[in-house]
Amino acid sequence: CGIVGYIGFRESQPILLEGLKKLEYRGYDSAGIAVFTEQGLEVTKTVGRLVNLENRLTGEPLRGTVGIGHTRWATHGKPSDLNSHPHTDNSLKFSVVHNGIIENYLELKEELMMAGHQFLSETDTEVISHLISVEYEGDIVKAVQRAVKKMRGAFALGVLTEHEPDRLVAVRYASPLIIGVGEGEKYIASDIPAILEHTRDIYILNDGEMAVLTREGVELLTIEGNFITKEIFHVDWDLMTAEKAGFDHFMLKEIHEQPKAYRDTMRGRISEDGRSVVLPELKITAEQLKGINRVHIVACGTALHAGLVGKNVIENLVRIPVETDVASEYRYRSPIITPDTLVIVVSQSGETADTLAALREAQRCGARVLAITNVVGSSVAREADDVIITLAGPEIAVASTKAYSSQLIAFFLFGLYWAQTIGSKNESEVAHVLAAMQALPEQVEKVLAQAEVIKGVAESISHHSSLFFIGRGIDYAVAMEGSLKLKEISYIHSEAYAAGELKHGTLALIEEGTPVIALLTQEDVYEKMLSNIKETKARGADVLGIINEGHEVEVAKSVDRQFAIPRTLPLLTPALSVVPLQLLSYYASLALGHDVDKPRNLAKSVTVE
Ligand code: G6P
Repeated sequence: CGIVGYIGFRESQPILLEGLKKLEYRGYDSAGIAVFTEQGLEVTKTVGRLVNLENRLTGEPLRGTVGIGHTRWATHGKPSDLNSHPHTDNSLKFSVVHNGIIENYLELKEELMMAGHQFLSETDTEVISHLISVEYEGDIVKAVQRAVKKMRGAFALGVLTEHEPDRLVAVRYASPLIIGVGEGEKYIASDIPAILEHTRDIYILNDGEMAVLTREGVELLTIEGNFITKEIFHVDWDLMTAEKAGFDHFMLKEIHEQPKAYRDTMRGRISEDGRSVVLPELKITAEQLKGINRVHIVACGTALHAGLVGKNVIENLVRIPVETDVASEYRYRSPIITPDTLVIVVSQSGETADTLAALREAQRCGARVLAITNVVGSSVAREADDVIITLAGPEIAVASTKAYSSQLIAFFLFGLYWAQTIGSKNESEVAHVLAAMQALPEQVEKVLAQAEVIKGVAESISHHSSLFFIGRGIDYAVAMEGSLKLKEISYIHSEAYAAGELKHGTLALIEEGTPVIALLTQEDVYEKMLSNIKETKARGADVLGIINEGHEVEVAKSVDRQFAIPRTLPLLTPALSVVPLQLLSYYASLALGHDVDKPRNLAKSVTVE
């Protein structure tokens, strides 16, 4: 999760520890450093907080002027001393810190094991240090280049070898990495805050680029070995701005991280030919999956809303009945669970007490439990029978954004996996959905580029005390999430309604100027939605339509303002349509001067029932 590295003339240990502390706010589960000491390349690492690492180092400091450090947020393998970074090879001459995911690490690991390599951890990173040691023929730069050619996935690396103690090598591919330039000292870091107190002059590496750091200078080149030049970027942010990567709030940063979160959550889970889903982490067999005849999705808050989309996804792809339930209700209503019931719990933190209690109740009643969670090694992840990890990365803002939308991706993947396993969708149908899924990250980028449009709407709705979100089918599920987001951070009362149900009572609340956010991305109920919108307009509503691209002209006749999302398959629209709603609540909260990242009365993770 966090990388820092130093080469210079000062003791490196305090610089590495201070750097890692500056990244602490991002969340992590273990930490470690590697330093060239008089004894050679030495590593100290430990699970838990940075103080644990500091305590160990107080007794036995690592003295030396070159080192790398890491805080880990587990993706492969639970948080533990052995799984912590830095990782070394069997000769203990190479040391690596890594952010990202190596998709083909199992294949690589098998090959290396056949060649006699022994592995201590369950991580993908340890494979990298072995691979580099195998490729080493006297030049660490060439060895790293050859090793990364064999790797598929995302990585930011810091590499040291005892054979060349005056060089620190850094590589970036789809995971951020920067190089800091000082007088006689150079730094690497995954994020600016880690090195801001030492230098404001940095190089920002692009995908496929690497840097070779010595005390005197920095050599920049591509992974292929071509030298390149770059302008120095001078950072004039303060520490607080740097923590948010230049965004005003964590929530806005996390909203913008969604394209990456989608890519990371899909990474390695779609076959190379794009025709099937691969979920090697699942222990449930094809036979067991075939035997499942009902599903309960149980969660709280935003995660429950992801579950409502999940219900639509599974029922559509697998044609098996799905019920969703609030976790705090589920457990006390003696749910009807049979051995053929699959219970899916969804939880960003994996620590929500209500969700955990529901999971235990389901298992007590004999159900198999699949967890969709963002935290490897969390209570929910440990206790569930199967786990799909969302790779949204740490989420700091209380209002969940990228974790929610990554949960949607997890549901799409699992729904397709199940469908292909039982044959409810054929190969070309699965491939069709997968192709559309792979376009989502870029489509989210397009939505984000139009954030200003939403800002204007948000400012106007912020003066109202009540508003409505309406939609049909899967749009209704997204409407519920949009409404919750607005309530959470702007404190404006809103209600999500199934658009067709409005006329059965709630329409009485619509008066002149009441804002209505209408989602109409579902082609099969498009005409019906237009009628429902007209019902609200006739009572004076001020309507924002969230629509599909291509409907602008037609919809303009029925709504006051509109926001178009790029075209995708009807089932996948939530992954796009939720983004303008997140922005709407963000900008409304901002306009009202509220604490966006820490709304009143709420906690990120609620561990009481
Ligand atoms: C808290 C948070 C919500 C979150 C819910 C479930 O109430 O404030 O934002 O959706 O817990 O959290 P989980 O970690 O289980 O997804």
